[in-house]
Amino acid sequence: MSGRVVVLGGSGFLGSHLCDQLLARDDEVVCVDNFSTGRRANVAHLADHAGFALVEADISAGIPVDGSVSGVFWQWGARAPATAWNSPTATAPGS
Ligand SMILES: NC(=O)c1ccc[n+]([C@@H]2O[C@H](COP(=O)([O-])OP(=O)(O)OC[C@H]3O[C@@H](n4cnc5c(N)ncnc54)[C@H](O)[C@@H]3O)[C@@H](O)[C@H]2O)c1
Repeated sequence: MSGRVVVLGGSGFLGSHLCDQLLARDDEVVCVDNFSTGRRANVAHLADHAGFALVEADISAGIPVDGSVSGVFWQWGARAPATAWNSPTATAPGS
């Protein structure tokens, strides 16, 4: 069943693969990321996909997605302990 799904941290390593898989099963995907550790290149191939939207925002200020959604995936957080240690407010509390 397809739906509208939000992927927080969707431009990260894991999140970008999740975006790929959700789009492959015909979900509409709203990727929210502040690119603190994620890479634009991870989702660049999705830029022209009709079902993909990228919102650049810091999730700690709230989730800037309007309208109904069928699911929210949390893939944001520190990839490595050193990242969280060096930038705790940018990465907490998603991991
Ligand atoms: N990569 C792994 O092998 C692995 C294994 C086990 C668990 N995890 C956990 O899975 C999560 C994701 O891992 P990853 O390797 O994809 O890391 P990643 O750093 O590649 O992805 C995290 C994403 O979250 C985004 N982000 C962080 N803080 C944000 C904020 N405040 N607002 C918006 N976006 C924000 C980053 O920009 C990045 O795109 C982490 O919590 C990590 O600890 C990862």
